[in-house]
Amino acid sequence: MGFLMDLYILKIGGSACTEKAKNVCEAKTGVIRQIAREIKAAQAEKEFKLILVHGAGPFGHKLVSDYGINNGVRTGRQVEGFVRTHNSMLALNKIFLDIFSEEGLNAVSIPPLACIVQSGKKIRRFDYSLVKKLLGVSIIPVLHGDMVFDDRLGASVVSGDAIIPFLAKKLGAKKVFFGTDVAGVFTADPKRHPGAKLIKEIHPRNIGVILRKVSGPSAVDVTGGMKGKLLEMKSILRGIDAFVFDATKNGNVLNLLLGKPVTGTKITF
Ligand code: IPE
Repeated sequence: MGFLMDLYILKIGGSACTEKAKNVCEAKTGVIRQIAREIKAAQAEKEFKLILVHGAGPFGHKLVSDYGINNGVRTGRQVEGFVRTHNSMLALNKIFLDIFSEEGLNAVSIPPLACIVQSGKKIRRFDYSLVKKLLGVSIIPVLHGDMVFDDRLGASVVSGDAIIPFLAKKLGAKKVFFGTDVAGVFTADPKRHPGAKLIKEIHPRNIGVILRKVSGPSAVDVTGGMKGKLLEMKSILRGIDAFVFDATKNGNVLNLLLGKPVTGTKITF
């Protein structure tokens, strides 16, 4: 049975799991617990494999920006920033793992620093053998945005948004879900523009127009906000369905995992 089970990859973006808008290092533990419970409930109804990737919010973006380490890590102070950012991501990751364990989920962390090397901010090498091993015994691998070594820049940020298409392609994911704190991709930032419209589908024929419309990040975000996510997906995510949705809304994660309808943006490249 094992290898026939569908594989889903779920990203919980920094906007959904941290106080990103306030730019303070606080996790939204209520949202994380809700998501954990919904994964558990979905597991009780059907068999599937799941990889979870969480974002950073201020736990990563604030430090990267404060230490000026988005374009290379060379000086002693930048090395300090690299270490502090990685450790800060581990702290957020620990919050996820503790809650997952309390809710009865079998999940194990894989820090990207230990298995990814980049070159010019792009993933160059990725030893994902542990991801495969964990999936083989139905343990949820949990990865996250991180600082990793970079052949050209010393070190650089790897976004969860880059990890996901890579793994989706290598492991043949059935679907990838990008959870944020709004109901999908909008024509403008829906928090600042109440008239912003939800874009229900993004495909090769409308992506050009949409990329011109969708804005960059509104809060501190060194990996480019929604626009960065779309560009990342466009470059790698061919043939795999992606769905952007509101992960803070009760029932959404459960319904997605069970294949039931959820409001959001469907992306096919
Ligand atoms: C960013 O990860 C990681 C660091 C800044 C160290 P993500 O790009 O996945 O984080 P979010 O979802 O935008 O917060």
